[in-house]
Amino acid sequence: MPLLRPLFLLSLLRAAATSGVTIYDQIGQVTLAATGTQSAAAPAVTTAAAYNTTVLNPPPVPNPPPATAFTLELQAQASAVDGLSIPIPGTFFGFSVEMSVITQLCAFFCGGRDCGAPILTLGSWEKLVRVSSRAVIRRSHKSSSFVQVPLLNLLSNIRERAGAVNIRIGGNTQEFAYYVDTLPDGHAISKEKADTNNPTQTPAVIYTVDLFYLMANISSFTNVHWYIGVPFNDTSDFRFQIVEYSEAILGDYLLGVQVGNEPDLYTTHQHRTKPYDASNYTIEFGELNLLIGPSVSGTWSPEDVWDTGFITDYADSLYALSVEHYPTDNCQPIYNISIYHDPQLEFPNFLNHTSGVALCEPYLNSTAIAQQAEKPFLMFETNSASCGGFPGISDSFGAALWALDYGLQMAYSNFSGAMLHVGGQDVFYNPFTAPPTNQSMLFEWTIGAVYYSALVAAEVFGKTNTSRIIDLLGNDADIYTPQYAIYENGALARIALFNYVTDPTGATDYTATITVNGGTVPSSVTVKYLLSDSVSTKNNITWAGQTFGTVHEVDGRLKNDLNVVTINCDTSANTCAIPVPAPGFALVFLTQEESIETVTYPTTAHTNTKNTVTVASAVLATSNGMSGSDWELGSTSSGSKTSAARRTMAPQLGWSLGLMGLLLAWTLSGTM
Ligand SMILES: *[C@@H]1O[C@H](CO)[C@@H](O)[C@H](O)[C@H]1NC(C)=O
Ligand SMILES: *[C@@H]1O[C@H](CO)[C@@H](O)[C@H](O)[C@H]1NC(C)=O
Ligand SMILES: *[C@@H]1O[C@H](CO)[C@@H](O)[C@H](O)[C@H]1NC(C)=O
Ligand SMILES: *[C@@H]1O[C@H](CO)[C@@H](O)[C@H](O)[C@H]1NC(C)=O
Ligand SMILES: *[C@@H]1O[C@H](CO)[C@@H](O)[C@H](O)[C@H]1NC(C)=O
Ligand SMILES: *[C@@H]1O[C@H](CO)[C@@H](O)[C@H](O)[C@H]1NC(C)=O
Ligand SMILES: *[C@@H]1O[C@H](CO)[C@@H](O)[C@H](O)[C@H]1NC(C)=O
Ligand SMILES: *[C@@H]1O[C@H](CO)[C@@H](O)[C@H](O)[C@H]1NC(C)=O
Ligand SMILES: *[C@@H]1O[C@H](CO)[C@@H](O)[C@H](O)[C@H]1NC(C)=O
Ligand SMILES: *[C@@H]1O[C@H](CO)[C@@H](O)[C@H](O)[C@H]1NC(C)=O
Ligand SMILES: *[C@@H]1O[C@H](CO)[C@@H](O)[C@H](O)[C@H]1NC(C)=O
Repeated sequence: MPLLRPLFLLSLLRAAATSGVTIYDQIGQVTLAATGTQSAAAPAVTTAAAYNTTVLNPPPVPNPPPATAFTLELQAQASAVDGLSIPIPGTFFGFSVEMSVITQLCAFFCGGRDCGAPILTLGSWEKLVRVSSRAVIRRSHKSSSFVQVPLLNLLSNIRERAGAVNIRIGGNTQEFAYYVDTLPDGHAISKEKADTNNPTQTPAVIYTVDLFYLMANISSFTNVHWYIGVPFNDTSDFRFQIVEYSEAILGDYLLGVQVGNEPDLYTTHQHRTKPYDASNYTIEFGELNLLIGPSVSGTWSPEDVWDTGFITDYADSLYALSVEHYPTDNCQPIYNISIYHDPQLEFPNFLNHTSGVALCEPYLNSTAIAQQAEKPFLMFETNSASCGGFPGISDSFGAALWALDYGLQMAYSNFSGAMLHVGGQDVFYNPFTAPPTNQSMLFEWTIGAVYYSALVAAEVFGKTNTSRIIDLLGNDADIYTPQYAIYENGALARIALFNYVTDPTGATDYTATITVNGGTVPSSVTVKYLLSDSVSTKNNITWAGQTFGTVHEVDGRLKNDLNVVTINCDTSANTCAIPVPAPGFALVFLTQEESIETVTYPTTAHTNTKNTVTVASAVLATSNGMSGSDWELGSTSSGSKTSAARRTMAPQLGWSLGLMGLLLAWTLSGTM
C-alpha cells in the first residue's frame, strides 16, 4: 500500500498535466518591484525567531576531557539484561502542533487565487494544482484548501522509518476553540482574540468540518494518527463537536482526546477561580471518554492527580496518562515574567546527559504506575524551553543531540511517546516551519534541528513495536558520551552513541569498542552518523550524509547521497570499534537494516511532465518581492501556452492567514 498511493498520485498528476492546464514558474533573478504593494517584502519575517541566525560559542572541551576509548560489554539477548524499557514504538517522537498553526502547516487558503507553495488540493482530485515545488498548475478551483507537500514529505520520512506518525493538535489554543459551519473563503480554521487573561494572549480558534477532512487527507497519505484537544474552558458547555467530528471523520486515525491542557496553570491563566486543585480537575475530567490526561506541567505533580483516584476512577475511559514539560523557559524577554536566562550560559545545560536524566527522574514513579494501570505514559508537549525556546540553542545541532538523548532517556524511563511542540514563526524551537502564507511564493520551508532528532529516533526504534532500550552508562557514566543499546525481537539490534563535545582538533573523538556476551559480533556492522561541525551550527546537519538544506530551502526531502558506513569487526576478538566524532552521534546496526523506501509526494512529479523548470533556492532566498512580470508562463501540454492565462502573482496581502505566522505558540509551562 505505501507504494501504491504515490503511484496513484503520480498517475493523477500525469492526467492533470496532460489536460492542458497552465503552469507558472519563476525564472531568473527576481528584482525588487519599484511600485505598488509588491515591494512590501520579506525582511521582517526573515528575522522572525524561526529564522534567527544567532550562533553561540560551543562550550570548551571539558577538563578533564572524557576518555576517548572505552569498551561496552553487551548481552546478545534481552533476557540476560536487567532494566530494559517496555517495548517502544518507532512513532515515539511525534509532533505537538499548536491548534492555531495547524492550517499554516497543513494547508493553504487561497481565496480563489493561486497558492504559491507546493500543495495538493483536497477533495476532487481533478483539482490537483501543484506539480513541483515551484510550479503552479492554474485551474479554476472553488475549493480553497490544499495540503502542503513539504509537510507530507516530512511526515512521510518518519512514516517510512516508524510505520506511522503521531501528531497532537492542541495547546493553549485548544481551550477556547469552537465550531462553526462555515468560514469566509472556505477556511477550515480562523481565530479571534479571546483569552486576555492568559499572558500568552491565546486566540480562540474557530474551525469548520474541513479541519477534520484536512487531517483525514493527511492521514491517508502519511498514516498520521492524531491526538486532539477538547476545549475545557467551560465545563457547562464542553463543545463536543471536535470529538464528534474527529470520531466520525478520522475514525481509527483518532488515537485519543486530551482533556485539559496544563490544568495546573488554570488559576494562573484565570481559566478557573481559586480554589481549583487536582480533585476539581479529576471530577471535571470524568464527563468525557477515550481520554488523555492530566497533562500537568509541573505546578502540580502527577502524584497530586493520581492521589485523587484519577486512574482507578477512569480506568475504562482512559487512553493514556500524560504530562507536559519544558526544561526551562525563555519567558522573560517576551513577557517580563520569570527570570532572564542568558542563552550562552544556558547552552552547556543542554549539552550533557544529565539534562535528559534529570528531566525524566520526576516521572519514574508515574511511568511505573502507568505500567501497572496498563496505560501508555506520554510526554504530550515538550521542547527546549517554553515561551518559544532560546536563540542559538533551540535550533542548533546541540539541540538535535539533546532532544535525541532526552527522547531515548524518556523511552528508557518507560514513556511511550513524546510530542515535540511546533509553534509559529516566532519560536526558536520548531522542528519545521512553513513560510508565512503571504511569503509562500518566495520561500520554501525551514527545518529545525530537532526534526533530525525525531527522524533518527524513528530509526533507533524502527517499525516492529518490540524495541526495548537501556541506558548503558558506559565510559564510567561520563555525561558527555552517553550510550544506549536497543534490543529488538529479544536480541541486541542497535547501539546509540553520543558525543556532546565540540573539538575541531579531533582530540575528543572517541572509539567505543563493542563486545557481545552470549554471542559474537557480526563480521561487520553498518553505522549512520548524525553530524555537524559544532554543536552551535544550524544549517549543516547531516544524517547518514544527507541533509534537508538550510533556512527557506526545505521541500521535506533528504538531499545528497546516502552514506552508510560499514565497519569491519574482529570476530576472533569479538569486538567492533566504532569511532564517534566530537560532536556527533552514531547509530550502529548489528543486524541487516531493512532499506528505507523513499516515498515522497508530488514535488517529484514535475520530472514526469514537460515542465521541469526549477529555480535555484538562492534566487528565491534573495528575492525581495515579486510582480506579475517576474513570472513566466509555462504549460504542461505543448502548444497550449496562452498569454490570456497570464496573471499577476503579487503578494497576496489579503490572505488573512498570513497573520498566523506572527502567532506566538508557546505555552507557559516548564519551570514556570
Ligand atoms: C506578510 O504578512 C505580514 C503579516 O501580516 C506582513 O507584516 C508582511 O508585510 C506581509 N508581507 C508581504 C510580502 O506581503
Ligand atoms: C535573534 O533573537 C534575539 C532574541 O529575540 C534577538 O535579540 C536577536 O537580534 C536576533 N538575532 C538575529 C540575527 O535575528
Ligand atoms: C479529503 O478531503 C475531502 C474534502 O475536502 C473529503 O471529501 C475527502 O473525503 C477527504 N479524504 C479522506 C481520505 O478523508
Ligand atoms: C469558553 O470559550 C468559548 C469560545 O471561545 C467562549 O464563547 C466562552 O465564553 C468561554 N467560556 C468561559 C467560561 O470562559
Ligand atoms: C473545587 O472544589 C472545591 C471543593 O469541592 C469547591 O469548593 C470549589 O468551588 C471547586 N472549584 C471550582 C473552580 O470549581
Ligand atoms: C508514587 O505515587 C504514588 C501515587 O501518588 C504515591 O502514593 C507513592 O508514594 C509514590 N512513590 C514514590 C516513591 O514517590
Ligand atoms: C519587569 O518586571 C519587573 C519586576 O516585576 C519590573 O520592575 C520592571 O519594571 C518590568 N519591566 C518592564 C519593561 O515592564
Ligand atoms: C549538565 O547539564 C545539567 C542539566 O541541564 C546542568 O545542571 C549541569 O550544570 C551541566 N553540567 C555541566 C558540566 O555543564
Ligand atoms: C521500565 O519498565 C521496566 C519493566 O517494568 C522496568 O524493569 C524498568 O526498571 C523500568 N525503567 C525505569 C528506568 O524505571
Ligand atoms: C505497531 O503498533 C501500531 C499501533 O498499535 C500498529 O498500528 C502497528 O500495526 C504495529 N506494528 C507492528 C509491526 O506490529
Ligand atoms: C558541512 O559539514 C561538512 C561535514 O561535516 C563539512 O565538510 C563542510 O565543510 C560543512 N560546510 C559548511 C558550509 O560549513
